[in-house]
Formats: sequence, C-alpha cells, structure tokens
Amino acid sequence: MIRHMTFRKLNTLHKLKFNRVDANLRWVHFESAPWIGNTGARVSVFVVFADGKRKIDELRLKTSSGMVIPAEVDDQTSLPQELSQFNELPESFRNFYKVSFNLAGPEVVVGVGLIEKHEVPLFTLIPKIEHPDFLFDILCQAASSFPDTEFSTFVETGTLYGHTAIHAACMFEHVYSIELNEQLNSNAKAISSCFPQIQFIQGDSGVEIAKLINRISSPTIFFLDAHWSGDKSVDWQSSEFSGYPTDTSHLGNTETVTPSSQEQVPLDRELEIVLSRFPHEAIIIIDDWQSIGERNNAFAGEDWSHLSKQSLLEQFDASPRKIFHYPYDDKHYILGIRSMAESPDVATSNVNESAEAA
Ligand SMILES: C[S@@+](CC[C@H](N)C(=O)[O-])C[C@H]1O[C@@H](n2cnc3c(N)ncnc32)[C@H](O)[C@@H]1O
Repeated sequence: MIRHMTFRKLNTLHKLKFNRVDANLRWVHFESAPWIGNTGARVSVFVVFADGKRKIDELRLKTSSGMVIPAEVDDQTSLPQELSQFNELPESFRNFYKVSFNLAGPEVVVGVGLIEKHEVPLFTLIPKIEHPDFLFDILCQAASSFPDTEFSTFVETGTLYGHTAIHAACMFEHVYSIELNEQLNSNAKAISSCFPQIQFIQGDSGVEIAKLINRISSPTIFFLDAHWSGDKSVDWQSSEFSGYPTDTSHLGNTETVTPSSQEQVPLDRELEIVLSRFPHEAIIIIDDWQSIGERNNAFAGEDWSHLSKQSLLEQFDASPRKIFHYPYDDKHYILGIRSMAESPDVATSNVNESAEAA
C-alpha cells in the first residue's frame, strides 16, 4: 500500500508557493523553472512597480532570517513580451528590475528596497514545487484495487522539469524518470542530491524502459508522459497550448521538418514492453489520453496519429494480465495489471526474452 505517513509529507510541499505580498509589487515573472531549484537553480524575476512616488535607490534580496543573497539586479533591462503592457505607463511610473539569483533551498526570499536611505521590504518569494494533484488522487483510487500490494517504485517517462518525479519522491522509495532531452535531464539531475531516491535517466523511453524494468523488483506505478511538447520551431501563435519555456525533444533528425507521429510519441513502444515484459504488478497511467489519434491538438505540428484509442483498448482487453482499465478523466487513462506469475496465460518466453535482451 502507498503509505499514509508519506502523504503528510506531501501536504507540506503543497504549502511551498511563490507569493507576492506587497501592494507596490505589480508583477513577478519567472524566467526559469524555480520549482526545480532546491540546489541552486538560477531564477530570474522581473519586478515591476507602477509607483512614481517612491524612487528605489537599491534593490537587494535577503533570506527571511536577514542574510543577504548574492543577486544581480538589472534596472536597464527591457521588459519581456508578456509584460509589454507596462510600457504604456508614463516613464516616471515605470520602475522595473530584473533580479537573478541562485535558489539556496525552499526558503523565503525577501526583496528589500533602499528608499531615502531606509530599507523597505517590497516583496516576498516563496519557492514553489509544482506538482500534479491528479496523481495523488489517481493513486489512492487505483491502488485500492490492489489491497495487499505495496507499490514502492514509480517510473515516469518524460521528465521535463522533474515536477512529477519530486512529487513522487514523497510517496515512493524508488523513483525513475526517463527524459530524451539532454539539457532537461541534466537540469533534473541537479536536484538529485536533495532527493536521493530519484534516478534520472537520459534516453529514448521506448528503449530505456526495457533496460530499466530488469532492475526493478517490486510492484510499480508507470506514469507514461513522454512526448514531444514543442520547441522553438512551433508556431505558438496559432496553438492552443502556449508551450513550455524550454525546448522539448523528439526522435526526428531535423529542426525544420515536423517530426512524424512515431518520432513524437513513444507510448506504443513503452506499453508493449511493460505489458509483455514487466513481471510484477503494475498500475499504468497514460497521460494525455485525449491526444491519442489526433493531430494539432495542443499545438501546430503535434501528431499522435499513429496511435488509436480503439486498438489500445483492444490490446488492454486482450492482455491476460489485465485487472482493470478505465478513463480516470478526459486526460488520463488507467490500467491495472497482475504479475506474470499470477497470469498463467502469459508466455514465460517473454520473460526469458527480456532477460536475454538486457
Ligand atoms: C509533457 S513533458 C513531461 C512532463 C512531466 N512528466 C511532468 O509531469 O512534469 C514530455 C517530455 O517528454 C520528453 N520526450 C519526448 N520524447 C521522448 C522520448 N522518446 N523519450 C523520453 N522522453 C521524451 C520531452 O522532451 C518532454 O520533456
């Protein structure tokens, strides 16, 4: 069973949020991904004051206990596109600063202004870990069908910033997350020292998952979320989803030709491997179920058309390991499978083949 003790720990994380507290502060803009920043990730915030009455002579950052945090403060910078509405203010009202610093941990950071020689607290930043609430709900629901099973391992495909992996690290003894993009993988690795139970693996999840499952000896939750989620080649103006602040990867070779559906989404290969070779009980959560079979759903060029909901459902129904499968909501599909030992119809040759392949 997923342990209730760890749920309490999770609730503490819920409270970590970036906040703005001062009435003078008009905007804080995060350039990078602060939620991954428990070990020194670089964070840039734009702070904009629409206040012509007070001139801020100096802006500093301090911890809530009063220690000064080394920060670069740039008041010459130009505003990013998202804040261009502030350019319409009269010049004397436009006070804005770009403040960049390394997060030292999930501690409160206070922005302090020196105004007429007095230090005035201007804003507060509280580091936030973004995590998917649905995961917690799904696990409680699906795990109740396995009353005697302890799921101590969580495998994610598609790491991105590591949100879900961090979230899962509060609930599981072992967490593995596979990411194709080298930069995203190495960013995520930077947080491993805070969460030693997470292992970040770089590579194509349709290949890496086969090697990984040979190392896992316990019932596992698989969260299948690897897919191209766009990059700078995408026309975001004509897309519903506005994109992540960083490029994500696909298996195609060029940046100019839109990748094929197979190159964008490894889900069919991942499922095939888990269903035919993972020997233990498992709960499989398929993310973005609504995109299956679709093109241009979230953004121009997105393509999941090599997959079909109908054929996946037939594959699940035909599996002798199936315990249940159902849509959790529009976005998530859940599948529970028994161990191979409890599924006599599963050819044992599958297990032998996978051991040889490893
Ligand atoms: C939607 S994001 C993952 C979000 C993440 N699971 C979370 O919950 O925050 C999808 C990620 O999959 C990665 N990706 C795309 N194709 C992949 C592949 N074949 N193998 C592993 N990762 C892949 C992309 O680079 C992107 O970072």
